[in-house]
Amino acid sequence: MGMYGEHVLPRIINVACGLKSAAPLRRRVCEGLEGDVVEIGFGSGLNVPFYPATVARVAAVEPADVGWKLAAGRLRATGVPVQRAGLDGQSLPFADDSYDFALSTWTLCTIPDVAVALSEVRRVLKPGGSLRFIEHGLAPDERVRRWQHRLEPVQKRVFGGCHLTRPVVGLLTTAGFTITELDVFYEEGAPKFLGANSLGVALSP
Ligand SMILES: C[S@@+](CC[C@H](N)C(=O)[O-])C[C@H]1O[C@@H](n2cnc3c(N)ncnc32)[C@H](O)[C@@H]1O
Repeated sequence: MGMYGEHVLPRIINVACGLKSAAPLRRRVCEGLEGDVVEIGFGSGLNVPFYPATVARVAAVEPADVGWKLAAGRLRATGVPVQRAGLDGQSLPFADDSYDFALSTWTLCTIPDVAVALSEVRRVLKPGGSLRFIEHGLAPDERVRRWQHRLEPVQKRVFGGCHLTRPVVGLLTTAGFTITELDVFYEEGAPKFLGANSLGVALSP
């Protein structure tokens, strides 16, 4: 991955994703989590302060060692047990039907084979379990989409493979999830090409 990907990028993500403006969105997406939870793309643990007390334990899946180190303070401050349990959302080292919930925040943009990762999430979720997500992706407006296609090559290079044009809802439904809650909106204060968010709940039947 190199020096930039391993050491610099996780720190940039910690700052960029840690902006206060994201806190209400993190609170919304984590609301209702219960029992055993797998979080893919744990990053630097920016969701940890928003885990409800109803969460029994979290299995964190994150390739970046620096991200995990940056999470240390948040992990000390929470009462929820969190273990770094995997390195790659495309290959989850867990038994079938073992989690009540999955959590993904601004991660599906970056995982190289997102279809494989979503099939892994479905495999490890119990029947009736759900994925809570907030993801940026393909914008609802054609004018913004054109910019997303133009800017995506640069975005991928600078942000470790982050895509701008992934159709979040389409990916989830193709993977077999049923969307039970969905809010599609542009994030306030973010450029539209980057801030076209889908927040919701995807049920694994
Ligand atoms: C934009 S960051 C979001 C981090 C965190 N979810 C948040 O909300 O702050 C994307 C994260 O996906 C992680 N990632 C990249 N490839 C991955 C993979 N194959 N499996 C799991 N996570 C991955 C990156 O290391 C990074 O931490």
